[in-house]
Amino acid sequence: MNYPPKQFLFFTLFFISALSPTVFFSETALAVAKSHQYGDIEMSQPGQNKAVLPVIFRHSTHRDKYTCRLCHVDLEFAQVAGGTGVIEDDNRDGRYCGACHNGKHAFEITLCAKCHPKNQTERQELDRQGKEDFFKAKKTLPPARYGNKIDWIMAENTGKIKLQDALPGITMPQQDMVVNRRDEPRTPSLAGLPGIIFSHSKHVVWNGCGMCHPEPYALEAGKTKMTMKEIISGKYCGRCHGTVAFPINDCSLCHSKPVTLK
Ligand code: HEC
Ligand code: HEC
Ligand code: HEC
Ligand code: HEC
Ligand code: HEC
Ligand code: HEC
Repeated sequence: MNYPPKQFLFFTLFFISALSPTVFFSETALAVAKSHQYGDIEMSQPGQNKAVLPVIFRHSTHRDKYTCRLCHVDLEFAQVAGGTGVIEDDNRDGRYCGACHNGKHAFEITLCAKCHPKNQTERQELDRQGKEDFFKAKKTLPPARYGNKIDWIMAENTGKIKLQDALPGITMPQQDMVVNRRDEPRTPSLAGLPGIIFSHSKHVVWNGCGMCHPEPYALEAGKTKMTMKEIISGKYCGRCHGTVAFPINDCSLCHSKPVTLK
């Protein structure tokens, strides 16, 4: 009887498909945002002028037009909520949001109320509008299981969305000098769990090199040690997977290497 390997396979499948990640990693919270709010960032600095309510920046309405790299490398937005420290003068100077919100690429920076609702009623109206726009756009894009429930890689691959990687007159078109198309395989420390294939070619389309190197990843295969707990708490892969890219709930998208039974 081929009993032990079967049990082994069952364990793996059970682990990947049935076990709730929140139960398995009890002390950590996984992404639970609704699809239209996944990737929304509330931008507010402590001690800031209370005359304006926090600004909601939506990744979903921007990542369908621009690469991550354009904003996070060229325009210098931090990859941490609240980390950039945008002030009104910067925006009016054509930096940060103002690089596009200048009436050329997107609405003028002088339309304050589009970003800063004056009261809760205006906030709710912006949220309602945002939700309506999201579902209208989503209808035209390939579906996924978690996060925005949009398969962004497929959307880009099939030309349903076209990503702009530079802003004429503001940033120079970037040609990353070194192209790396290698896959980086990783074997998790738990026996029986499918291995991970990190694809450089799939990531570089969105992220260039500068969003991951030299931080958080050393330029050497296997050098960076990472555990699932750290990833769930927002480090390494979890910086993006759980905030903007598909969340950790989708175990099998990363733990995708076929299990070989001996
Ligand atoms: C495209 C979106 C957008 C528009 C339009 C916009 N802002 Fe802002 N504003 C922001 C963001 C983002 C921040 C930073 C929020 C944070 O990090 O707390 C900010 C911050 C501020 C702050 C607090 C920081 C500071 O400089 O004191 C004030 C005040 C402000 N904006 C006023 C305005 C006014 C007045 C207008 C219209 C003339 C305006 N903003 C238009 C996005 C916008
Ligand atoms: C149009 C500009 C823009 C684009 C495009 C963009 N981002 Fe962002 N991103 C921002 C801004 C603004 C913030 C908030 C920064 C702040 O609060 O200071 C942010 C925040 C983040 C954060 C921090 C999240 C958190 O909860 O701490 C991550 C991670 C991130 N972005 C990843 C990405 C990835 C991955 C992509 C591409 C799929 C992307 N971004 C595309 C502007 C952008
Ligand atoms: C790389 C260009 C770019 C940058 C940078 C950018 N935006 Fe936008 N944004 C756009 C475009 C294009 C649209 C859609 C066209 C329009 O509404 O004018 C848009 C739409 C929006 C909208 C309306 C749709 C929605 O999401 O509700 C808001 C609000 C907004 N941006 C806020 C911001 C804030 C806040 C920042 C800075 C933290 C920012 N944007 C930075 C290009 C940009
Ligand atoms: C989304 C994150 C991400 C992006 C974007 C990215 N890398 Fe990497 N890179 C990694 C990871 C993860 C590893 C493996 C590190 C480890 O195993 O410790 C790696 C490893 C490397 C290595 C060492 C191993 C090897 O394959 O030779 C080089 C060199 C490298 N990357 C170059 C690049 C270049 C050049 C770009 C842009 C064209 C790029 N990377 C973009 C995440 C990224
Ligand atoms: C800088 C942000 C960032 C980091 C860091 C990052 N990713 Fe991603 N990853 C993305 C984006 C953006 C996509 C496009 C799909 C999406 O947004 O849901 C993606 C897609 C993927 C895909 C789907 C590719 C496919 O075959 O369809 C896998 C698998 C993946 N990432 C694994 C990883 C692993 C493993 C790590 C850590 C070693 C990692 N990612 C680190 C941003 C990131
Ligand atoms: C974004 C990609 C990604 C997703 C999604 C993901 N993992 Fe992982 N996982 C990794 C990476 C990378 C490692 C570390 C591999 C190594 O040791 O280098 C890992 C390691 C592990 C380990 C080994 C022990 C440890 O703590 O390092 C376990 C167990 C694990 N993952 C379970 C899960 C489960 C359960 C899910 C779904 C809830 C999941 N993973 C989703 C990328 C991912």
